[in-house]
This record gives sequence, C-alpha cells and structure tokens, in this order.
Amino acid sequence: MSKVTVVGAGNVGATCANVLAVHEVANQVCLIDIKEGLAEGKAMDIMQTAQLMGFDTVVEGVTNDYSRTADSDVVIITSGIPRKPGMTREELIGVNAGIVKSVATQVLTYSPNAILIVVSNPMDTMAYLTLHSLGLPRNRVIGMGGALDSARLRYYLSHALKCNANDVDGFVIGGHGDTTMIPLKSFMTYKGVHVSNFLSDDEIEDVVKKTMVGGATLTGLLGTSAWMAPGAAAASVAESIIKDQKKMIPCSVSLEGEYGMKDITIGVPCIIGKNGLEKVLELKLSQAEMEQLRASEAAVRKTTAVLKDLNVL
Ligand code: NAI
Ligand code: 2OP
Repeated sequence: MSKVTVVGAGNVGATCANVLAVHEVANQVCLIDIKEGLAEGKAMDIMQTAQLMGFDTVVEGVTNDYSRTADSDVVIITSGIPRKPGMTREELIGVNAGIVKSVATQVLTYSPNAILIVVSNPMDTMAYLTLHSLGLPRNRVIGMGGALDSARLRYYLSHALKCNANDVDGFVIGGHGDTTMIPLKSFMTYKGVHVSNFLSDDEIEDVVKKTMVGGATLTGLLGTSAWMAPGAAAASVAESIIKDQKKMIPCSVSLEGEYGMKDITIGVPCIIGKNGLEKVLELKLSQAEMEQLRASEAAVRKTTAVLKDLNVL
C-alpha cells in the first residue's frame, strides 16, 4: 500500500491530487487543508471522475485532522499564499514560513519516515526551512521548482522548434525565481542533437527569457499563480519516489559541497528514487553558466537569510 498526502487543497494541491489519482501514482491520496470542507469537496469531485478516467486510487479529503495523514510515504506541501500579478515569490516568505513549518511538523508526527516535497514559495527557502527546522536528513526534503521550470523550458523550446514537446530535452537549475533560475543552454537538445543546429543564438536566448518569466507570464494572465503544470510537476517527483523510478529531475536540495556550495537549498539535477534524493549530478557547466549559478546562489542565500529574522529556524 502506498500513500501520498497533499497539504493544501487549493489550486496546486487539488491539481496535484488529481494527477496522482489519474496516473495511479499511489493507492491512497490524502488531501488536507485548513479551510473547512475544501479538501473534502475537492477530493469528492476528483473521486467522481474515477469511473470516467478509469483509476483505482482512493482520494480522501480532510480538514485539519493530521491523524488521517498517518503512514504517508510522501507528503507534498502546497499550503500557503500564492503571488498576485507584480509580486515576486520572495515576497511570500513572511506568511508562508510559519505555515510551512507548522504543517511539516504536524505531518511528521504521524508519518515520521515520509519524504517531503516542498512546493510553497519561496520554494528554495521553504525547503531549507523544512530541512533545518525539523532536523531531517537531506534525502528527505525536495523542492520541486526545477521540475516545473524544466517543463516550461521544454514547452518554449518545442514552440521555437515547431516540434513535439516530447522530442526536446533541457533543464533548469539554480533558484526558483524569475531572475535566479538558469535554463542551461549547453544541454538543450532536439532528439539528442544540440538545438544550435536548428535555432539561432537569438532564438535560444528568447527561449531562455520566456522560461525565466514563465511563472510571471501565467500570473499576469490568470491573476494568481499557475497550478496545472505546478501540480503535475509535484506529482512527477512523487511518482519517481513511490515507483522508485530513479528519474533525473532538477530539484532544490541541500548541497554538501556539490558545485562548490554548502548550507544552501538550490536547484540542481538530481536522481529521485525510493529514498528521495539519491544522488546529485554534477554537470560540466560552461564558464558563463557557472557565473550564473554563483549569482543565483547569492540571491537564494539572501532570501534564506530572512528566516533568521523571522525566528523560524
Ligand atoms: P491557493 O491559495 O490556491 O491554495 C493554498 C491552500 O493552502 C489554500 O486552500 C489554503 O486554505 C491552504 N492553507 C493555508 N494555510 C494552511 C495551513 N496552515 N494548513 C493547511 N492548508 C493551508 O494557492 P496555490 O495556487 O495552490 O499555491 C500554493 C503555494 O504554492 C503558493 O505558495 C505558491 O506560490 C506555490 N507555488 C509554487 C510553485 C513551485 O513551482 N514551487 C508553483 C506554483 C505555486
Ligand atoms: C510558478 O512558477 C509562482 O512558483 C510559481 O508558477
């Protein structure tokens, strides 16, 4: 029996629970929220698609009762406020730090061995907070922003190439922020062939820029932050853990010397399996990419330092 808890039944959490069910990632999904009835309603709505979509996963909704999350293998934390148009992810830290710490503490009471996937923003800092305030080993706390940003990169790349999104590859490392993420030009390929064979430097640069503001573009269109790709991205990380797929997914994890960094949680390519983070892959980055990573590191450290002022560590 496998069980995934999703904390927060808002846009991202409910979408994530839906993807987990439709893809039968786990036998059981528990969706929990602080708002009376919301998780129950979203879970019931999802379960009414079971016959239509042909899945056997059981999704249950719960208000505040963490005992019902017991024995989860994976817990996905989406609780917290999203950004509005014009806001950065970093501006959410004051409200979300308290929420994330409180829910992480409660889920661990009932699922002491769970692997935690952090979604709430600012995600790199929320992953750092979860890891350090609860004293967990680094393999058990994974921020999922890189999975989302890389999916957006592939979307824009496939548009530039006018090709199927499943035929392109590429990924994003660094912080999950409009100016801190690094879509890696050296590793963008179309069917294994570097995209410089098909696109001009300007076209590749355009893909990079659109990817970096991908979240802000959607926030402008929707009036709140996006949820379809975020929910699916979080579910894809959970699937790699539950099914021990050992997929290479860019995720925000605690570094212990990799890329010359320590005491920071930031996006790097990871192998994700039944133990959560199983390996950090160290790529040979170009000099320009290494410089970008240093700048991203400085920005993520600056946001993470705010945790000390908030007295939550
Ligand atoms: P939302 O407002 O639709 O849902 C958030 C839910 O959290 C609400 O239902 C609310 O009642 C619940 N909540 C608040 N405090 C809670 C608590 N103490 N315990 C349980 N539930 C609680 O927001 P949305 O769009 O789902 O976004 C959620 C978070 O995810 C935001 O911080 C957003 O910035 C972040 N996000 C992160 C992404 C990433 O790639 N890392 C992508 C998209 C969103
Ligand atoms: C996103 O990238 C805002 O982190 C959220 O859509």
